[in-house]
This record gives sequence, structure tokens and C-alpha cells, in this order.
Amino acid sequence: ATAQFTKIDKDTQALPISSEDWEQRARAILPDGPFDYICGGSGAEETLAANRTAFQRWAIVPRMLRDVSDRTLSITLFGQQLDTPILLAPIGMQGIAHPEGELATARAAAAYNVPFIASTVSTYSLEQIAETMGDAPRWFQLYWSNDREVSASMVRRAEAAGYGAIVLTVDTIMLGWKRRDFRNGYSPLKEGKGLANYINDPVFCSRLPVVNEEAAVQEILRNIYHPALSWEDIGFLRQQTRLPILFKGILHPEDAKLAVEHGVDGLIVSNHGGRQLDGAISSLDALPSVAEAVGGRIPLLLDSGIRTGADIIKALALGANAVLIGRPFLYGLAVAGEKGVARVIDTLISELDVSLALSGSKSVSDLNRGILTRL
Ligand code: FNR
Repeated sequence: ATAQFTKIDKDTQALPISSEDWEQRARAILPDGPFDYICGGSGAEETLAANRTAFQRWAIVPRMLRDVSDRTLSITLFGQQLDTPILLAPIGMQGIAHPEGELATARAAAAYNVPFIASTVSTYSLEQIAETMGDAPRWFQLYWSNDREVSASMVRRAEAAGYGAIVLTVDTIMLGWKRRDFRNGYSPLKEGKGLANYINDPVFCSRLPVVNEEAAVQEILRNIYHPALSWEDIGFLRQQTRLPILFKGILHPEDAKLAVEHGVDGLIVSNHGGRQLDGAISSLDALPSVAEAVGGRIPLLLDSGIRTGADIIKALALGANAVLIGRPFLYGLAVAGEKGVARVIDTLISELDVSLALSGSKSVSDLNRGILTRL
């Protein structure tokens, strides 16, 4: 991968370069409700904070004199080659950040060949997103509906629209306790920002007495959280699709083992960016024991707290095959639409490439714990 950082135009040059600056710029332009919804975590936001401090407790001990002139950031996932080990995390309701929402994000992702993961609760439908992406890589994230025929229908639509994997988010069987949103009285779902995949779904609509926004919101709220989700549901999901299935939100090594035993194709070690169980372990701290439990049998991805090239090096060295970024690209979207997302991706790839070289490695897939020390 050659990042295009040096080729960008003057307008783009004026955009922020660090995730802190992006966050500040987004805070200045978004109302409190959407901004707090995006930046916040659950409870006392201890897990949100832990997602950052976890990275600071590992340091890279770089190697020198290793001829790193010829490098690659490329990896293979589910038989597909990716230019970089970076994916965009599924983020719902992107219309709260920018009117073009997922369409702008998906175009930026496509330009860099970075997989876009469309959320169940996206502002634009999975078909609209697919149309704007051409052949570029995309996955679909599923919130398991308590009406499983609705889930099955969405999975079928995703497969038909060229999505390459299904990401089942397993940590959101109910919504995390979000103090900021209570204070602001803010719910983007109730504001109708996450309806598109539902109101375009024939099975979902067949459940509605009348097809309008209010009826859809009520039905979604009844439908979306499914605390009864259990390992027994996995067989049903498997029957619906030939696509690889990943579980997002695994933190315990025993769950990782169970997932492998149940034929899950990949795991995303994640605490949902500190937005679900406050007090939960940071995903980087969870990674080594999950990696040990999985033992290389299926790919392991990680999100929650990735902000820099060095963060990616640390996650890969501790056993991840790839990482997802969340909030940073959404701030980019809020500030500058498609160009903002492109800039966030571009700077991260460029920084990763420099960090890889300065660590003394030629390939992201060669990284291992030997270049890290625990502080
Ligand atoms: C999310 N996340 C998320 N996850 C998911 O599976 N489906 C979804 O619809 C959403 N929606 C969502 C909205 C917002 C505003 C945020 C910030 C996050 C979680 C997301 O996929 C990812 O796990 C975290 O964002 C990763 O952490 P960082 O990179 O934001 O620290």
C-alpha cells in the first residue's frame, strides 16, 4: 500500500492530522446530542478510558539495521488480499454526523480499498451503500433481531448486494447505560436516523400495521435488542448464508474457544469502544489470552481505542490480524464528509507505514510480541 498523503490537495492539507484534533473540530460543529452520543462511553466511562491507557502500557522496542526499504502492509483475510490491516468499524446512524452519512464514508473507504462494515442501523440502506461502492470490499454488521426472520432477510439482502462477510455483534443484547444521552435526552434511533435497512426490508415491513416512520421506530425498538441470544442461535444464522461469519464483542478466552467450536469464522475482540459494559476489560488487554485460546485457527481482529500507527503495531504484535477504527473516521465525516474520512484513513496508513519501518519490520504479518515490552 502506498498512502497518498503526499499527493493531497491544499484543502485537504488544512484538515486535522491527529485524532484529538479531529475530535475537537467535530465538537465545535456538532450539537451536544450527536457529539456526546459519538464520543461517549457507558457508565463512568472507565472502559472507554482503559481502551487508551492499555496501549500506553506496552512499548515497542524497535530493531535496527534490518533493511526495511521494501515493505508491505498487505494481509490476507478469508482468502482475500487487503492492502492494509485496517477496516472501518460498523457505526450506525452516520447521518447524525453528516447528511451524506454512510455513502460518503463508503466512498472514502472504497478509494483506499479499506473494507467498509455497514451497520444494521445505518442511515442509508445496505443496497444504497453497495451501489456507491462498486466492487470495493464491504461487510455487513448484524444486530440479531428478536424476530429471526428479519435477521435472515437482512443477511440474504447483504449477500445479494455483494457484502463479503457477516459481523454479528454479540455485545449489544441490550443498550449500554449512557449517562450523556440521558442528560441530553438524545436517541438517534428515535429520531429516525437508523431506519433504512428496516423500512427497505420486506419481512420487517410485513410485521408493521402501517408502513410509516413512527411505526417503524416502535417496531425496531421492540425488535433490536435480544437478550435471549445464545449459542443455539448460531446454527440458524449459519444456515442463512455461505459468507464468513465473525463475532464482534468477544473478550473472554472461553467464549473465543466456544466460537471456534461452533464454526465461527473470525472474531473481533472489542468492547464496543467502551459503550456497552462499563468496567469491562480493555480490548488490548483481552487480546493476548483470546489469541492464545484461538491459537491461529481463525482470524482475530481488534477494535476499541486504535488511534495511531503505533497502536496498530501493538495490536498486531499481540496477536491481531487486523484492526478496526471507529470514532476517528466519524469525526472526519462530521468535519469534512468524504474528504475527511479519506484524510483519516490516509494519515493512519501513512503513519502505520512509517511506524512499521522504524520498528524494523518489513511486513505487518511478521509482527510479534518480540518487539514489545510491558511497562
Ligand atoms: C458504534 N459501534 C457500533 N458497533 C456495531 O457493531 N454496530 C453499530 O451500529 C455501532 N454503532 C456505533 C455508533 C457509534 C457512534 C460509535 C462510536 C460506535 C462500535 C464500533 O463498531 C466500534 O466497536 C468502536 O467504535 C471501536 O472503538 P473506537 O475506535 O471508537 O475507540
